[in-house]
Amino acid sequence: MNILSIDTSADETSVAITNKQRVLSTVIFSQISLHKPYGGVFPSLAKREHYSKITPAIELAMKKAQMRFTDIKAIAVTIGPGLPPALEVGVSTAKLLALLYKKPLIPVDHIEGHMYSPFVQNKNGNPKREFLFPFLALVVSGGHTQLVIVTSHIQYQILGSTLDDAAGEALDKAGRMLGLGYPAGPAIERLAENGNPKAYALPVPMKKLPGLNFSYSGLKTAFKHVVYSMNEKERVLHIHDLAASFQNAVVQSLLLKLERALKTRADIPLVILGGGVSANKTLRQQFRSLVRTYHRKPLTVAYPYLSGDNAAMIGVVAWYKYKKGIMLNDKHAIQNVERIPRANLTMYTTE
Ligand code: KG4
Ligand code: ZN
Repeated sequence: MNILSIDTSADETSVAITNKQRVLSTVIFSQISLHKPYGGVFPSLAKREHYSKITPAIELAMKKAQMRFTDIKAIAVTIGPGLPPALEVGVSTAKLLALLYKKPLIPVDHIEGHMYSPFVQNKNGNPKREFLFPFLALVVSGGHTQLVIVTSHIQYQILGSTLDDAAGEALDKAGRMLGLGYPAGPAIERLAENGNPKAYALPVPMKKLPGLNFSYSGLKTAFKHVVYSMNEKERVLHIHDLAASFQNAVVQSLLLKLERALKTRADIPLVILGGGVSANKTLRQQFRSLVRTYHRKPLTVAYPYLSGDNAAMIGVVAWYKYKKGIMLNDKHAIQNVERIPRANLTMYTTE
């Protein structure tokens, strides 16, 4: 049961061949160096680059897995959320493949992918991790910050989302203020290792407000005031403390909401952390220790390349959708896949 999956939601052209939860091959062509001079993803450039890389990515993934299209059972693709010009490339390619080779098309939500990423296995079926429902997922990336309960396979209940910027986006913007390149998350993490997280009294976002939503615009403004009150020399001198303080405020805001959710939901046996920011060691450590305090099992992504955007996680979601019959077989439905409302992604079945 091999699935070819595609993700072009932002600045990575990724194609994978998966079999159930196992990755047979994965290709990730990163555009990071292309977008660096712009300090973020430049949409029209991303689209052009995805178009030039998608065919080589498919060919390479098929070659690495030693497959032909007759070996592929279904095509899966991220249909959102993401950068529309970038998504378009993956979706139009997936449609073409599904129609040409007469395969079902399985549309996947990018956040579903991040939620399933800790369960992606290598060729040998490792790591072996058990799905314990209902599990709680904290997805933290450049475009999303969400707390979601996965009640059973492909059934979700969103508890909280960001009201403005995503946590990764806030890290990237703070990094830009400090003159760090894009994406700034990893650079902030490196600098923070030698800094004092309490050096600057930054507000922990949404601490005083009830609920499980996130917000980073206030923190960003507070940080801007601190950074711009310094001259260039002072900024360089205190860069470690600045990075550590900002990172700490972001991590505390995430853990605060996670703890609130854990306090109210005693029935949750497992908590997972996914998304690009989950590569952050401070976040991972504090996440694990918090979840264990509440006697739940913590899982973070197993292999570093899975924390960021990749098509393997999309393929694993697609397998569970396939098992439930959530796929498009009809030509007209495949042609109109973009029109499926996001909220319906888990519900439709067309034969
Ligand atoms: O999941 P992802 O690759 O793309 C989206 O779906 O958005 O996440 C990218 C984000 C960027 O904001 C990047 O700065 C952040 O993940 N990131 C990190 C680290 N590695 C990547 N943030 C903090 N620490 C890291 N080590
Ligand atoms: Zn992502």
